[in-house]
Amino acid sequence: MHQKLFLGLDVSTTGAKALLINSLGHVVASATTPLTLSTPKPLWSEQDPYDWWAGMVNSIRQVWAQAGVEGTAVAGIGLTGQMHGLVLLGAAGDVLRPAILWNDGRTQTQCDKIRQLVGKRRLIQITGNDALTGFTAPKILWVRQHEPEIFAKTRHILLPKDYIRYRLTDDFAMDRAGGAGTLLFDLRSRTWSEEVRQALDIPAAWLPPTYEGPEVTGVVSQAAAEVTGLVAGTPVVGGGGDQAAQATGVGAVRPGVVALTLGTSGVVFATTDAPLVEPDGRLHAFCHTVPNHWHFMGVMLSAAGSLQWYRDTLAPGKDFDEVVAEATAVPPGSEGLFFLPYLSGERTPHPDPLARAAFVGLTLRHGRSHMTRAVLEGVAFGIKDSFTLIQNAGLGPIQQVRISGGGAKSPLWRQMMADVLGVELVTVNTTEGAAFGAALLASVGAGVHADVQSACEQMIQLTGSTKPGPNTAVYQQYYPRYRALYPALQHEFAAIAAVIGHQ
Ligand code: XUL
Repeated sequence: MHQKLFLGLDVSTTGAKALLINSLGHVVASATTPLTLSTPKPLWSEQDPYDWWAGMVNSIRQVWAQAGVEGTAVAGIGLTGQMHGLVLLGAAGDVLRPAILWNDGRTQTQCDKIRQLVGKRRLIQITGNDALTGFTAPKILWVRQHEPEIFAKTRHILLPKDYIRYRLTDDFAMDRAGGAGTLLFDLRSRTWSEEVRQALDIPAAWLPPTYEGPEVTGVVSQAAAEVTGLVAGTPVVGGGGDQAAQATGVGAVRPGVVALTLGTSGVVFATTDAPLVEPDGRLHAFCHTVPNHWHFMGVMLSAAGSLQWYRDTLAPGKDFDEVVAEATAVPPGSEGLFFLPYLSGERTPHPDPLARAAFVGLTLRHGRSHMTRAVLEGVAFGIKDSFTLIQNAGLGPIQQVRISGGGAKSPLWRQMMADVLGVELVTVNTTEGAAFGAALLASVGAGVHADVQSACEQMIQLTGSTKPGPNTAVYQQYYPRYRALYPALQHEFAAIAAVIGHQ
């Protein structure tokens, strides 16, 4: 008897990944084709959707070779990927311009305009979010203003993952977790907001129908089957934006279970069973991949990304374990040295694209090992900012925090996180990230598991725990000092940007 397999496809900024799992959640094959980013102008960040598709086809073909199976083994496909990116297609489904990505910062003027047109409070009430430069809606306004010829040809708007869906199935469709990240969604009704759409004057016909994470949106077409080795008619489910799919993949699918991801960015993610909103928009509020569930999320832009920058710049050639090991000899608090991790500006809790990273408190006593420890601690403090907002958001008690992502592999960093947050952190057996969550959703869509929660119970087990240790009390003294640094420097960051702008 053939075992049923599920394919998770993740189009991230760095690669197109195909992951094959079985119904118990065991990984059968995994392949990633690297993708590059284009920054044609300051603040711009773009990728060509055709490259996503070519990369994904390559990865899908690699999993057959790795697993020694054929497309006939696949009972369902789930999609995930970078959120917020704007893909514009013409009447024939042709790509009209490079996609404008989640980390693109060109739309400050359009964000201000959206707040003015909808009203900031009303925008947060409806969508759950304030207008941020990375979100989709301000990008549409930017294209209308700066590239009217492209705007005139536009007939369809998709997110990156949904472009892969379109190429696989010929259908225009979007998952609701992703849809909520466009800033055009009504969080409560889990669909497009007429009020926001009309205020921004975006044609309704451009917006695709939306689906829950495990819901089938279409099937693989004959043309896609020929290039990928998949079988025509294989069902494709809604899936989810990368953060919701990542949380699904570690089993953060019920209120009380928080996911903490230490990837390039750092994310604190909490599921809710009601469409709650943080009134000032300091936390994102989006739909979850789980039907009738939502989530709050704090996003710190440079988490493990800070360590990567630090290693590449100040300890080139060393591997991460060697770099992190240097920090063990330094006392907690790095003898008064702080690192502000705002290397690419910040989102939570300071939505400020102009914020900059800084070492504060250097003395003659400080050497590189202190700087290393300060970087690790600065990221932990930044995560605590989001964690505190989530603790205070009226969600009810946090029963468990599941930590994952590249940075979570370091025992020292995990311990530091547990100490700074003052909570126990648990690890899980699934380490394939958002692609795993997408494949899990496909197993639900294919009817192999009754719902997302029970699929998680079957596939995901706890593997370890890190409890707060003796340094917890020390960090309670240092954290308020860290908290005070951004407000003290905020105006200077803006002034520096102005000076650069005037050169
Ligand atoms: C989420 C976000 C990122 C991108 C890229 O709000 O901006 O997670 O989805 O990974």
